[in-house]
Amino acid sequence: TVIVLDFGGQYNQLIARRVRECNVYCEIYSYKTDLEKIKAMEPKGIIFTGGPNSVYLEDSPSYAKEIYDLGIPVLGICYGSQLMMHQLGGKVCKAPVREYGKIEVTVDQSSALFENVSEKTICWMSHNDYIEQAAPGFKIIAHTPDCPVAAVENVEKKLYATQFHPEVLHTKEGKQMLANFVFNVCGCAGSWKMDSFVEESIKAIREKVGDGKVLCALSGGVDSSVAAVLLSKAVGDQLTCVFVDHGLLRKNEGDEVEAVFGPDGNYNLNFIRVNAQERFYEKLKGVEEPEAKRKIIGEEFIRVFEEEAKKIGAVDFLVQGTIYPDVVESGVGGESTVIKSHHNVGGLPEHVDFKEIIEPLRDLFKDEVRKAGLELGIPDYLVFRQPFPGPGLGIRIIGDVTAEKVQMVQDADAIWREEIAKAGLDKEVNQYFAALTNMRSVGVMGDERTYDYAIALRAVTTTDFMTAESAEIPWDVIGRTTSRIVNEVKHVNRVMYDCTGKPPATIEFE
Ligand code: XMP
Repeated sequence: TVIVLDFGGQYNQLIARRVRECNVYCEIYSYKTDLEKIKAMEPKGIIFTGGPNSVYLEDSPSYAKEIYDLGIPVLGICYGSQLMMHQLGGKVCKAPVREYGKIEVTVDQSSALFENVSEKTICWMSHNDYIEQAAPGFKIIAHTPDCPVAAVENVEKKLYATQFHPEVLHTKEGKQMLANFVFNVCGCAGSWKMDSFVEESIKAIREKVGDGKVLCALSGGVDSSVAAVLLSKAVGDQLTCVFVDHGLLRKNEGDEVEAVFGPDGNYNLNFIRVNAQERFYEKLKGVEEPEAKRKIIGEEFIRVFEEEAKKIGAVDFLVQGTIYPDVVESGVGGESTVIKSHHNVGGLPEHVDFKEIIEPLRDLFKDEVRKAGLELGIPDYLVFRQPFPGPGLGIRIIGDVTAEKVQMVQDADAIWREEIAKAGLDKEVNQYFAALTNMRSVGVMGDERTYDYAIALRAVTTTDFMTAESAEIPWDVIGRTTSRIVNEVKHVNRVMYDCTGKPPATIEFE
C-alpha cells in the first residue's frame, strides 16, 4: 500500500488513481491522521499532496517530523515538497515569479525518480511560493529558469519532492515519474489488480461480518449494485437487500432490478422489493418546488426503508454504496474545499437497529467501481448505467407529479434512450434523458386541435459532471425521436432540445 497524505490539494484523487494505475494499492488520508495509525498500516511509500496554504505561515497544515525518519519513502508534491523542505531546514518563500501552467523543466536523468524521463520535459506548475533553498542533505534534481529547486532527493533517506504536479496529464511524463517512485524508490511489486481488490474485500468482509446479519438498500444503480453483489459473494444470504420502488424509476427499471437480484436472479441473497409508488405519489401531490420534492422523496424513502428494516429486526451491519468522490464531494474525508454537497436519496435511517456501517467501495473511483462490477460478473447494462438521481423522475417532471406524468416521461425517455443507442451515441454522450416540462400548448393532430405537454430532451457531454456541454446530436436522431414521441406518447404534442450547458443550467432538468 501507498498512502497519500491529503493537505487540501485539488488533484489528490488523481494521485491515488495514478498509483493504482501502476497496480499498486493506494489510499488517501487526511494530514490530521495520527502518525501511529499511518505506521501501523506499514505503507511502502507515502505521498504528500499539494494544498492552498503557505508552509511558513502559522496554522498551515503540517505533519509530525518523525515521518521522515521511518525509513519509508516519502514523495512531496507542490505544497508537500515545500513542507518537506521547510521542516527539514530548507527555505521556502514567496516566489519572485509565479509559475502557472505547462513549464519546461530540466531534470537530472541519473535520479531514480527520472529514469526514462526526457532531460527537458513539460510539467504542470501551479505555485505562488517556491523553494529558495533545498534542505541540507538534499540534491537538486530538476529546475526551470524561474524555479531553481523544481525537484530534490535525499537518496539515503528515500525522500523526494517535486514542485510540479506529476499526477496531472499536462505533465507529459508524470505517470513515468510516479511509477519510478512506487517501483524504483518504494519497491512495490505492482501486483494489485481489481481481482485482488475483489478477493481481498470478500475476505475482509467475511472476517468482519462473521455470522452477523447485513442489510443493504439497493437502488439498482451502479454503486449499490456492486456493493450488494460483493456482500452477497462474501456472506450469501446473511445479506438482505431492500429495494424501494418509489414509482419514479425509468421505464421497466424496477422489474430489471428484480430480475437480476430477485429470487429468479443470479445472486444468493434475500431480496425484498417494496412497491411504494402510491405512497410517494400521495406525498408529492400538488408539490411543485424541486427542492421540496427532493426532500419529500428522500424522507419518504428512509421511512419506507425503516419500516422494512423493522420487520427484519436487529441487524449487525448496514451497507452503504459510498464511493470515493462522494466522500470528497460531501467534504467528509477530503481536505479540499467542498465543491458540491452530495445529494443522494438515503442518508442514514435513524430507526434502524444496526451496529456498524460497511462501505466496501469507499476508496474507489466510478470507473474502478465499474471494473469491480465486471470482475464480479454483474451484467454490462447494469455496470455501465448512466447516472440517475436518487429522487428519480420526481425531479424530471417540472411542477407537480402524477402517475400519468410519470408514465409520459418514462415512455418519452425510453424512446430517446433507444434512439441514442441505435445511433451508436450511447458511449460518447455521458448523460441523456427526457424531462416533462409543465408547459402545454396548442397543436393539431389529424383534424383535431390538441392542448398538450412538451417534452424536453437533454443530452450532455462531461468528464466530471461538475461542468457539461449540451451534446451535438445529429438532427436526424432528434427528428426521429421527436416523431416517435409525439406519435407514441399520449398527451405530448411538442418536443424540444435543451441546448444549455452547465453552467448556467444544471445537468438535470428540474
Ligand atoms: P446537476 O443536475 O447538479 O447533476 O448538474 C450533476 C450530476 O449529479 C446527478 N444527480 C444526482 N445523483 N443523487 C444522485 O445520486 C441526486 O440526488 C442527484 N441529483 C443530480 C445528475 O444526474 C448528474 O449526473
